[in-house]
Amino acid sequence: MSMIDKVAVVTGATRGIGRAIAERLQADGASLVVCGRDAARLKDWEQSGVVTVKADIADPDAAAGLVKTALDSWGRIDILVNNAGITRDGFLMRMPDNDWNDVLRTNLSGAFYLCRAAIRSMMKQRSGHIVNISSVIGVTGNAGQTNYAASKAGLIGFTKALARETAQRGILVNAVAPGYIETDMTEAMADKHREAILQQIPLGRTGTPQDVADLVHFLASDRNRYITGQTIHVDGGLVI
Ligand code: NAI
Repeated sequence: MSMIDKVAVVTGATRGIGRAIAERLQADGASLVVCGRDAARLKDWEQSGVVTVKADIADPDAAAGLVKTALDSWGRIDILVNNAGITRDGFLMRMPDNDWNDVLRTNLSGAFYLCRAAIRSMMKQRSGHIVNISSVIGVTGNAGQTNYAASKAGLIGFTKALARETAQRGILVNAVAPGYIETDMTEAMADKHREAILQQIPLGRTGTPQDVADLVHFLASDRNRYITGQTIHVDGGLVI
């Protein structure tokens, strides 16, 4: 039970990849604080002794409040997984300011707010693992996703800088870049588009939230002693 005595904060854990990550950590004994925006789905977590916080991580006060709740509840934070993310796709020419700002605020600033709030306690305890969920789109770009690609590429740079900034205090910071993972986020995609992506995946299948959760679990565990500042793809070989 490698996560016993570990406290993990996972954002966007009411469904999809975030939910799978939180379940994977909990299965190995981690104490959890999860956040999301869907109160009904957060209730499912409460029943298994998990501390839940309904919070919009794009709001700096709410992000700080989430970290405070974790520290008040468990006394420490060992693992922070910045998973919450959104898309607002559209071509640049017609992209409203709101679609640009909402995506940047949630996907990039949200991670900044949470790391800023959590880092002090990690520095004091001289240990911690931070995993930021980026995307292969942050590496390759994608037409119709300038906002999303900028936010996910931003997370990769953010991860590298923070890894350098905190390494001497025993904090390891990494990013995970999923490819095409079957969740609510990708369900909206047209069948034709999904088929075209599938053709490009060498392993011949789309990914599952558990494929991502297994990697996050490793990166956030004490078995990861020497990997920091990296972005690791979980994409079936989509971007080789
Ligand atoms: P999803 O849409 O199924 O779930 C997103 C979760 O984040 C939900 O629980 C939602 O409530 C929460 N969330 C969104 N905005 C929030 C906010 N402002 N405050 C608090 N919670 C918020 O998405 P999915 O597919 O599970 O994606 C999770 C992460 O993985 C995202 O960062 C996404 O960009 C990334 N990703 C997903 C891929 C995919 O193929 N599904 C591929 C690459 C990256």
